[in-house]
Amino acid sequence: MAKRPFPEPYKIKMVEPVNLRSREERERAIKEAGYNTFLLKSEDVFIDLLTDSGTGAMSENQWAGLMLGDEAYAGSKNFYHLCDSVKDILGYDLVVPTHQGRGAEHLFFQAVLHEGDIVPMNMYFTTTRQHAELAGGVFKDIIIDEAHIPAAEHPFKGNVDLRKLEALVKEFGAERIPWVVLAPSVNMAGGQPFSIANLREVRQFCEAHHIKIALDITRIAENAYFIKVREPEFKDTSITEILHTICSFSDASWMSAKKDGLVNIGGFLGLPEREFELFDKLRNMVVVYEGLHTYGGMAGRDMEALARGLRDVAHFEYLRARVSQVEYLHSRLADAGIPLVNPCGGHGVFLDARSFLPHIDQDEFPAQMLAAQIYAAGGVRSMERGNVSAGRDPKTGENRHPKLELVRLTIPRRVYTQTHMDYAADSIIEVWEKRESIPGLKFVYEPPILRFFQARFEPVG
Ligand code: F0G
Repeated sequence: MAKRPFPEPYKIKMVEPVNLRSREERERAIKEAGYNTFLLKSEDVFIDLLTDSGTGAMSENQWAGLMLGDEAYAGSKNFYHLCDSVKDILGYDLVVPTHQGRGAEHLFFQAVLHEGDIVPMNMYFTTTRQHAELAGGVFKDIIIDEAHIPAAEHPFKGNVDLRKLEALVKEFGAERIPWVVLAPSVNMAGGQPFSIANLREVRQFCEAHHIKIALDITRIAENAYFIKVREPEFKDTSITEILHTICSFSDASWMSAKKDGLVNIGGFLGLPEREFELFDKLRNMVVVYEGLHTYGGMAGRDMEALARGLRDVAHFEYLRARVSQVEYLHSRLADAGIPLVNPCGGHGVFLDARSFLPHIDQDEFPAQMLAAQIYAAGGVRSMERGNVSAGRDPKTGENRHPKLELVRLTIPRRVYTQTHMDYAADSIIEVWEKRESIPGLKFVYEPPILRFFQARFEPVG
């Protein structure tokens, strides 16, 4: 039986109406959107689980902070507040603000990579790999095998397989691997955390081979929660101390603050003092691509909201309510026998579309169609994370056929209630019950890059 979520340590102060369209209207809307949930109008969505990115609700303290925006072009006081929060919560001394995560990824990879450099990561993320490749890098996956198997139970499916990293060093030589890039709460694996024990080992290995570690700390707080509840060494350690410990293993980091920063827009790069040279390079690049080095594409008020959001997120009570809400939706679907990524991750529930729709070939995009059907069933918007998201291999031009063919139901932070989770679960169960009659899809428009955002499809046959 589904376990009830832990109550939220806050109450609702303001509400935003949402529309439930009729089934006919929903069927028309998804057809007009080319069976791509990214192309739906948000007005036509009842419960929006497309992403947890920039979709969270801010606290009263963050909203109050918006009124204190210092919109000076240079040296805004909100930038210095942001630097203080990054130092206090994460421990980094040096901050380069950016408009969001991919702005930071662009600067980072352009700054550190040379043509043909190998970039090991614990699974890929779409924009991260894209920016690494645009800067001449070659992505290599070093996550443990369990991460690619939806049903495999492992408390830290985000961990690195040291043998895979070692094999890359043997094959290419450490000098061709300047950086290893690790993400906490691995997005494409289902929001799966890494452990500090694993991070420690990776650090030791990298130090021995003069390889640096960059962290994509986009969902670091949710990973810190899992460390506290699953890694016995840290059960009495505060979330802030765990955050400091994670960051202490890195030489650079960036954050899409739209997730665990608890803001609607924003990002930054964070570095330790000893990486001043790289920081200086990034600070010189940010003025070309994002904005002055004391705002980097954010308004002063956005930086203030972020400075406060970072302090909001580092609380065990908040994280427990957050993750247990996600776990509630997961257990409702598991109770119905729906194939899922296990264990439940931090930011969403991931449906295993291959097992859900085993009659659809991966080149007819089962996860894409499943997301479309879930919308038609109840106005619940989710996202494909499979063959469409993985794109084509730049060398062969073939679809990449990732092992994981998933639909992601991403839960915005501090936004929906338990009733919304129940409604979403019921809509998905409705699709599960008629799964055999669902056909696959084919492209009618395929963009050349990050194709999942704007692709259009029609049903096969
Ligand atoms: N890194 C990770 C792990 C992400 O999940 C994202 C964004 C980015 C970087 C890029 O950040 O969107 O601020 O430019 N993920 C969103 C998602 C889009 O829906 O998972 P951004």
